[in-house]
Amino acid sequence: MKELLYEGKAKRIYKTDDEHVVLVEYKDSATAFNGQKKEIISGKGRLNNEITSLLFLKLKEQGIESHFIKRISETEQLVKKVTIIPLEVVVRNVAAGSFSKRLGIEEGAPLSAPIVEFYLKDDALGDPLVTVDHILELKAATAEEITILREKALEVDAVLSSFFSELGINLIDFKLEFGKDPQGQILLADEISPDTCRLWDQKTNEKLDKDVFRRDLGSLTDAYKTILTRLGGHQHV
Ligand code: C5P
Repeated sequence: MKELLYEGKAKRIYKTDDEHVVLVEYKDSATAFNGQKKEIISGKGRLNNEITSLLFLKLKEQGIESHFIKRISETEQLVKKVTIIPLEVVVRNVAAGSFSKRLGIEEGAPLSAPIVEFYLKDDALGDPLVTVDHILELKAATAEEITILREKALEVDAVLSSFFSELGINLIDFKLEFGKDPQGQILLADEISPDTCRLWDQKTNEKLDKDVFRRDLGSLTDAYKTILTRLGGHQHV
């Protein structure tokens, strides 16, 4: 029996024989609105496991390290064990979602430069948007770490925006999480998948991400399969 270390909404984390490595299992569950909307979607775990793996490999190729080690089964991957920094780092290239709602800017309006936002990882509070001063007050990260998070998030944006663009997809926005390794180095962690990105088809503006589930726009697996196929993935689901 694998020893379960943590169970989140979309993933389970298990212990391995190596104290520096954990196993991540991608679940078939879809959740939105802080867990208020929930569904089991068969095949979602496999799709996100493969998509995340391909994107972390692409980033590595471009010199951006992450916790990712390797995909070991349809739904599982090995990653370096890190202590997650309790912040969600969101990068936006085009207005959408909570940004559009909060600021009254129409969805789809391009932004003149990428915008970085920080949200506190706290389910009980509904992951509130926080300023740099809030982060410092809460000791969620130091000023130096905030600078690193921002720089790394923008680097990821540059690589993934141009990569997706080559595949006929616009990277509208996405959320990253970072962790610290035992040496205190900040490493990109968690996942990068259609669960955590907004991805719109360049020609049709069709949504190929979790908004399909959040807004009941059709089949989530069809949308995620389109992303995987364009990434050159092998999974036939
Ligand atoms: O909802 P909002 O517009 O703030 O989301 C911005 C981006 O961050 C979207 O791509 C969304 O999928 C992602 N996100 C996420 N996890 C959250 C909140 C947002 O992956 N808890």
